[in-house]
Amino acid sequence: MSDDIRFFELNTGAKMPYVGLGTWQSDPGLVGEAVAIAIKVGYRHIDCAQVYGNEKEIGIVLKKMFEDGIVKREDLWITSKLWCTDHGPEDVPEALNRTLRDLQLDYIDLYLIHWPVRMKKGSVGFKPENLTQPDIPSTWRAMEALCDSGKARAIGVSNFSTKKLGDLLEIARVPPAVDQVECHPSWDQRKLRAFCKSRGVHLSGYSPLGSPGTTWLKSDVLKHPVLKTVAEKLGKSPAQVALRWGLQMGQSVLPKSTHESRIKENFDVFGWSIPEDLFAKFSDIEQASSSFPHCLCVCNKIHKSSMIKGQ
Ligand code: A2P
Repeated sequence: MSDDIRFFELNTGAKMPYVGLGTWQSDPGLVGEAVAIAIKVGYRHIDCAQVYGNEKEIGIVLKKMFEDGIVKREDLWITSKLWCTDHGPEDVPEALNRTLRDLQLDYIDLYLIHWPVRMKKGSVGFKPENLTQPDIPSTWRAMEALCDSGKARAIGVSNFSTKKLGDLLEIARVPPAVDQVECHPSWDQRKLRAFCKSRGVHLSGYSPLGSPGTTWLKSDVLKHPVLKTVAEKLGKSPAQVALRWGLQMGQSVLPKSTHESRIKENFDVFGWSIPEDLFAKFSDIEQASSSFPHCLCVCNKIHKSSMIKGQ
């Protein structure tokens, strides 16, 4: 990986910046400022989703930054995601229109099916009683139409296992450009990574720090002895080491923070690397299959067990 190149080329030919600012759990009132700081620091990639409930605030900030000449639209990469209640083919274009209105944009760089899980239209919350049978092929055809219209420059999926991604690739006219999944040293997505590579799908990692602020995840990725040792040896923080590991594994990373010092720290992952001998230590880290039962979220339980079993 060259340090001069800070983009991954997708199967569409588009160049997606390595590091994006995550906005999941970035509270309204804080997210706008976080996006503004990130862009000033040099981030050119913002990862959004309608369900995060903060796209309007992000849109206001983006508009101001374009007007003030701080960044140009064409130099930014903005991702958003189709929520599970909008899988109906007739609902897909309206969902993107809503996101574009909120973000005050004419197009999105990447639009993802947020989960391979469908919920009843209008239902709220990830509750088992809201679930209904997904029909990914029909949702995907509506996603392809968004791509044809130019409103979504690339389309992809999120939280798709190897099996689900493989099924989609079988029927897709426009192959998914990205599968965005949870990925960090304690869940390195070995099988999915190899599959994505073989099929030209870019793997993008959310929660690249293991989401230390999400109490129900009981994540201790940043406290893992391998990360602590490598961080000490390189004079970096465990968070920087986790992010740099992700880049060296070949995935884009989407760290979330609403604090200026951490937003800066998380972007300081270029111009140095984890040497081979230390990098090798990461393959000994125990993987998520033994720690995920701590997770209390219904959706994550359904999803993580299917991801791990490869369904
Ligand atoms: P905060 O927003 O208060 O800075 P992930 O991206 O893996 O989901 O992790 C996001 C969580 O990690 C948030 O709770 C965020 O808190 C915290 N975080 C972000 N950057 C760092 C960092 N450099 N060191 C420690 N914690 C961080």
